[in-house]
Amino acid sequence: MNKLLLVDDEADVRYSFRRLFDAPDMEIVSCGSGEEALRLMPRVRPDLVIMDVRLGGLSGLETLRRLREKDAKLPVIMMTAYGTTQTAIEAMKLGAYDYLLKPFDVPKLKQLVHAALKDARAMREVVSYQPLLESEDYALGIVGRSEAMQNVFKLIGQLSASDATALITGESGTGKELVARAIYHHSRRSGRAFLAINCAAIPEPLLESELFGHERGAFTGATCQRIGKFEQCHGGTIFLDEIADMPLATQAKMLRVLQAGTFERVGGNQPLRTDVRIIAATNKPLEPAVARREFREDLFYRLNVVRIAIPPLRDRRDDIPLLVNYFLGKLAGQTRQKPRSVSPEVLAALGRYRWPGNVRELENAIQRALVVGKGDAILPGDLPAEVTREAPGPAPDAARGGVAGTEAGGASAPVPEELPMLAGRLFQWARQQAGLKVLPAVERELIIRALVETGGNQVRAARLLGITRATLRKRIERFHIRRAIAIR
Ligand SMILES: Nc1ncnc2c1ncn2[C@@H]1O[C@H](COP(=O)(O)OP(=O)(O)OP(=O)(O)O)[C@@H](O)[C@H]1O
Ligand SMILES: [Mg+2]
Repeated sequence: MNKLLLVDDEADVRYSFRRLFDAPDMEIVSCGSGEEALRLMPRVRPDLVIMDVRLGGLSGLETLRRLREKDAKLPVIMMTAYGTTQTAIEAMKLGAYDYLLKPFDVPKLKQLVHAALKDARAMREVVSYQPLLESEDYALGIVGRSEAMQNVFKLIGQLSASDATALITGESGTGKELVARAIYHHSRRSGRAFLAINCAAIPEPLLESELFGHERGAFTGATCQRIGKFEQCHGGTIFLDEIADMPLATQAKMLRVLQAGTFERVGGNQPLRTDVRIIAATNKPLEPAVARREFREDLFYRLNVVRIAIPPLRDRRDDIPLLVNYFLGKLAGQTRQKPRSVSPEVLAALGRYRWPGNVRELENAIQRALVVGKGDAILPGDLPAEVTREAPGPAPDAARGGVAGTEAGGASAPVPEELPMLAGRLFQWARQQAGLKVLPAVERELIIRALVETGGNQVRAARLLGITRATLRKRIERFHIRRAIAIR
């Protein structure tokens, strides 16, 4: 459940926010003044505050300052009408998460709220890594008993005690972000902000301004000054995810921040100081990128001060039973169900499979099994087909590698180009499964996926799938997708 506190003196704005963010996992509390917001704070304990800059009584800026005095980690998004942008910039300097111009660009607003809530969760949920999670207490944790993971834990401990830059490497789904969060939570900066930036998800021209800010008129469209993450996160921790995708020009600026703690806003010439701890992660090895001159060697050495290399799951198979147990407990907790067990055949199959998507894929497989399974124990039939296929043949395996490769390279490719390619691959796969009816199989899988993604919420799942709720309900019946756990 996410709690959002909305502070605006206009009833219209409060009403439209309620309409916009109405969702089962969202609780919205609203009030009309800064004084009231401060009074509500201890009781409501919001994950995110959205507040108008211009308020009667206590100003938005002063309220922000007091809110952040009480809780330096609380993300606050400021709203501003034209003409008050300078105040919004002041707000950013006071540590506001971001600001939005009224009237809102709704998709942008939703994206921002989503990102802020994600960062808020990262700051709130303490990631434990030691002692091993074997109790009924399924707090968010990094599970692992293998020697490789014990080494990872040791490094997390050492890094938490210092302010050193860390580089976390490992294939997709191995737990890099989880490790970054554990370092943050156990460091002396845990009371300050943690901001995550995915370098691959932000278009190249915008990344530099996102990180360092820009001056008014720095480029076309820069209609006002912007404060970047490095300025805003002073005293905190920045997690630079997918660092291999950082453009070279931005890398040069990064190097200077690491060496001297200074930078300039894009289009500016005043050097600014920042005190930020940097944790970087990548699933693409950086050394070849350095050799190809796509990644600066000097930056690589600066980042590589302490390296945590998380091995793929297939190289630490002794962690699999422990992880399965952990996910059964964690997911049962989420769906308010008793943990179920797994049959010995299932455990054997899970132990044999290659897990190209690593721990994330394992977690998804368990989640799916809890949705489709009928009995008390998870049976082999509840697992995705590729997991139970004893020795995966070279063909599907090669195709799988291809999928990962192309996706990583073409993450920003428009959907229409990807679709025919995906469809081609699906047919290739279907031909290998004699007698398989491809359309119902894909449809069923997409529906399960949507239900899993939305925590079983039929309204949202239907929306995600682009069908009506009635149609979804019919499909759930037709494909015998069990109406159990959290399907609401
Ligand atoms: N050792 C672990 N114990 C418990 N959960 C784990 C572990 N490793 C990964 N996970 C879970 O697996 C999922 C993927 O982890 P995470 O997002 O940290 O991976 P990642 O390495 O950052 O992947 P990507 O490169 O795709 O971003 C998360 O839900 C995380 O909680
Ligand atoms: Mg990640």
